[in-house]
Amino acid sequence: MTNQYSTATYDAIGERFEAFTDTASQRAVETKTFFHMVGDVKDKSVLDLACGFGYFGRELYHQGASKVVGVDISASMIDLARQESLRNQESIEYHVSDICHLGTLGKFDLITAAWLFNYAESPAQLDQMFQVAANNLAPGGRLVAYTVEPTFQLQRGNFTKYGVHVLTEDAHEGGFRHHAEFVTEPPSAFTFHRWSRERYELAIMKAGFSRLQWQKPIISPAERAKHPNGYWDDFERNCLQTGLICTL
Ligand SMILES: C[S@@+](CC[C@H](N)C(=O)[O-])C[C@H]1O[C@@H](n2cnc3c(N)ncnc32)[C@H](O)[C@@H]1O
Repeated sequence: MTNQYSTATYDAIGERFEAFTDTASQRAVETKTFFHMVGDVKDKSVLDLACGFGYFGRELYHQGASKVVGVDISASMIDLARQESLRNQESIEYHVSDICHLGTLGKFDLITAAWLFNYAESPAQLDQMFQVAANNLAPGGRLVAYTVEPTFQLQRGNFTKYGVHVLTEDAHEGGFRHHAEFVTEPPSAFTFHRWSRERYELAIMKAGFSRLQWQKPIISPAERAKHPNGYWDDFERNCLQTGLICTL
């Protein structure tokens, strides 16, 4: 059943998520870290899981990826992605699907998944998502993900000034379920899940990946210079985000 906090709320959030990415300071750190992890995509095929309005896939297309396919569970987000790609004459394929039930679209050199795994509502779904990623990767291919940092704790401080206001934190199936809002006008309610590093690593191993590496968010000197001294202290002390690279 869906409610205002359901993970399917992106149909309701729609363009407000794009507005969030334009204003939230955490997004600049996310994108910097994400492209650092991805590296050179020239002539690589890319599958962008939980592509939303298509931002990362479209960027990688312009960086020279040979093929880009985006998938998202939200028909509204895929509509936005399609419109944007049409406007920019980008030859990108989009599908509406729950990643847990995606099946195999091909064998891609690179899979990206920015903010997918934190929408796994149970350890079983986390396993399914990593298995789908592994099934769609070519041998030696990489999965580059961005997700909720396992060690975040609401009692240690909020993330509001960086763009996400966390409202609740409840134990859930061995991890935590959080209700939160993107700091948009009006606020956009959503639910995310926080799984332990160990639970991620188990799902990654079970899916058949041979290596994994956690990547701390990178705050560039330029990003630091945009804000008063100490602005990023809370971000670094109780971070809500992390990068993750898995190699098949
Ligand atoms: C925070 S947005 C991120 C979008 C995009 N990756 C970006 O960073 O710009 C999260 C996206 O995950 C999608 N999503 C959540 N659960 C999903 C699932 N089970 N399968 C596919 N997409 C999912 C949502 O619809 C939403 O578009």
